Amino acid sequence: MSLFDHLQPEALDPIMAGFQEFGADSRPDKVNLGVGMYYDEDGRIPILQVVNSAEATLSGRVTSWGYLQPDGLPALRDTAKRLVFGDTLLAALNDRIVTVQSLGGTGALKLGADVIRRLAPASTVMLSRPTWGNHPSIFAGAGLQVAEYPYFDPATGGVDWPAMRDAVAGMAPGTVLLLHACCHNPTGADLRPEDWQELAGLIQDRRLVPFLDMAYAGFADGLEADSQPARLLAGLGVPAFVATSFSKSFALYGERIGALSVVAADAAQARLVGDQLKVAIRTNYSTPPSHGALLVSTILGDPALRADWEAELGGMRDRIKRMRHGLVARLAGNNTRDFTRFLHQRGLFSYSGLDAARMDRLKAEFGIYGVSDGRLCMAALTERTLDRVADGIRAVA
Ligand code: LMR
Repeated sequence: MSLFDHLQPEALDPIMAGFQEFGADSRPDKVNLGVGMYYDEDGRIPILQVVNSAEATLSGRVTSWGYLQPDGLPALRDTAKRLVFGDTLLAALNDRIVTVQSLGGTGALKLGADVIRRLAPASTVMLSRPTWGNHPSIFAGAGLQVAEYPYFDPATGGVDWPAMRDAVAGMAPGTVLLLHACCHNPTGADLRPEDWQELAGLIQDRRLVPFLDMAYAGFADGLEADSQPARLLAGLGVPAFVATSFSKSFALYGERIGALSVVAADAAQARLVGDQLKVAIRTNYSTPPSHGALLVSTILGDPALRADWEAELGGMRDRIKRMRHGLVARLAGNNTRDFTRFLHQRGLFSYSGLDAARMDRLKAEFGIYGVSDGRLCMAALTERTLDRVADGIRAVA
């Protein structure tokens, strides 16, 4: 009898399975609105100009590709922390926050999950209903309990804040509360600033452990506004986790670059948390890769490059908004569904409200790939595909 005798086929999650299927689809006019990546007007995943500028500086500066320390490139740790929390907050809290480099946002989530599992194995992680398909797998895979709190209101296409608030108010102390900083994945529906304020009070009262997934900062209202949830949670005096991804905001998907920040009670505790994180890294993949960390820290550390980056990020944000308007204009007058919700949903994704059967038809008949839960990637639309996508949606809706 061998280890593999009882293996059964196992499917990837719907996002990655669709990505794979899209790659194998030979139709020339296929459209990928599945996996979350930003495409430019020419339908390409761009290399940002500022990334090329940073890259050009590396050949003179980088003299070896030796190992990094497990917690990553110091310049990446510093600049990522400053980006998330801002100078004003760090003037007070710098020593209480430990930031490590991670393998994208997913890697940051996994590191946090592993550390929580080591420190409090009976923890429950509460996830929004719905949430990114990989969230339950990551936390359950790390050995934690996962459960859901109400979040999305299908009737309005926004957040059902009263239902969420009541659920959070009933959570037991120590519960880990997974939150999306902005551009909620998969729905695009975000809390309002006043909801965040109220939520922060509840987190403090209930002594919850907020875990913020901040994969899309810069794509909703801009970096400052989109960073407010992280800054709010960092000041509450409860342990807090912030997973940051640079995949989307720098279009560095394949470099797997991100960061995990953990807010502790004081500097000594932050150092001990840092030890836990380094052990988690060392026992997972030992040390992180250098290249993406060099690119991001070069850009964030240089005022001129940083300004260029913010301009390019703003351009991506504006293009997505134009695509949202373009799609809604083309779907206007559809009397089976109201698609105007695409306009108040933010970031790369929107929940179309189309069920799995309709998403399947969209794929089979029109070559338009979304995710089976109805998620569509607005950031992958272009002027050239808007008509086709609108026709497809109208036909299946
Ligand atoms: C997505 O939701 O499509 C992205 O976050 C990519 C991924 O890894 O699923």
